[in-house]
Amino acid sequence: MKNLTDPIILAIDTSCDETSVSITRGFEVLSNCLYSQLDLHAKYGGVVPSIARVEHEKKFPGVLEEALEKSGVDKNEIDYIAVTTGPGLAIALEVGVQKAKELANELGVPLLAVNHMAGHLVSGLAEENVEFPILALLISGGHTEIILMHSFSSYEKVGQTLDDACGEAFDKAARVLGLPYPGGPAISKLAAVAKEKYEVGLKRDNQTLMVIVGPKDRSGESYELPVPMVYSGDLNVSYSGLKSAFKRLVTRTVTKKDQTEGRARILSSDELGRLLTEEQKLPLSLAFETAALEAITRKVALGVEEYQVKEIWLGGGVAASPVLRSMIEEMAEKAGIKARVPKDKGLMTDNAAMIGIAAYIGLQNKEAGYVKVFEKGRVEKADRDPSWEL
Ligand code: KG4
Ligand code: ZN
Repeated sequence: MKNLTDPIILAIDTSCDETSVSITRGFEVLSNCLYSQLDLHAKYGGVVPSIARVEHEKKFPGVLEEALEKSGVDKNEIDYIAVTTGPGLAIALEVGVQKAKELANELGVPLLAVNHMAGHLVSGLAEENVEFPILALLISGGHTEIILMHSFSSYEKVGQTLDDACGEAFDKAARVLGLPYPGGPAISKLAAVAKEKYEVGLKRDNQTLMVIVGPKDRSGESYELPVPMVYSGDLNVSYSGLKSAFKRLVTRTVTKKDQTEGRARILSSDELGRLLTEEQKLPLSLAFETAALEAITRKVALGVEEYQVKEIWLGGGVAASPVLRSMIEEMAEKAGIKARVPKDKGLMTDNAAMIGIAAYIGLQNKEAGYVKVFEKGRVEKADRDPSWEL
């Protein structure tokens, strides 16, 4: 990744009717330029190889120049030339291979012959150019941290929870509602259903921002919760106060139902969950989700402004929340910067693939400290590492 040790590869593909040149660094795509001959061949109802060859010859210099220019990479920085050597149209492939040889000779670098289908196979791993500084929100059942990344090897924690992690707070709130573990997805589902009937508002009350959830048709009561630490001026959050406020709110809700305040006050989380009606769980879930996510996204927004970052990254189990993802995406859009969220659910909650990717990046960027290498014969020395914290 940037200014680091991943090899820079200039790749060429002329296997069919597209003249393409790219510059990549590790998984990062610095440029990916292409001239399509589609229109030329369309009138023949298919690709005409001889026309393709002539066009590749004609367009290659322009596409090459564009790819170099867009990547910001100097020719002399290129470590390898890669080229598709098959499968494809023979006389079209030959153009690319010839150009690749010329470039490799000119720059004095190795040439890599690549199978076109292998390219398709791994294309999903390609990343776009990464721009620092980046603000990353790592939000899971165990951690809630805001990390400012100056580069892959230079990063600092600029905000965090002072007590419970955000996912942990969801899990505890879910227990009070009588919902199964993990609580995040359960609350998330009810909150989404609640939005059909209930509306959410935010109101500033002195030094506290309040979430108010009430029925859209104003037919019943509304539920209020504080958004923690909104006005603290730093990038930290706290969830233990919200947890207590939520328990009090649920207790009041149950008490009203039972008309026996004294009894309800000493109810445990599990008992509270049993006493709530399914209907009451809807606005309560919506209120909790809004307060918990509003608290952290406001801090991310503050960080975006303070550090003038170019991208916002999101990772961790709570990123599975579609509400959180759209809040982050909306914020990035407003700031005119890029939001990167894991591509699918399996990459958000705990998984091994993210470890594999981190290992690759870490190996290429030893100074980043993501990976420790234990050579053959020293494997037994590897152990749990309590210092392994950001
Ligand atoms: O990263 P992860 O899989 O495990 C840890 O390393 O903690 O995160 C799991 C956490 C759980 O607390 C779970 O309730 C929360 O992520 N979570 C959610 C949602 N889906 C999972 N929290 C809020 N909304 C969700 N949709
Ligand atoms: Zn995790």
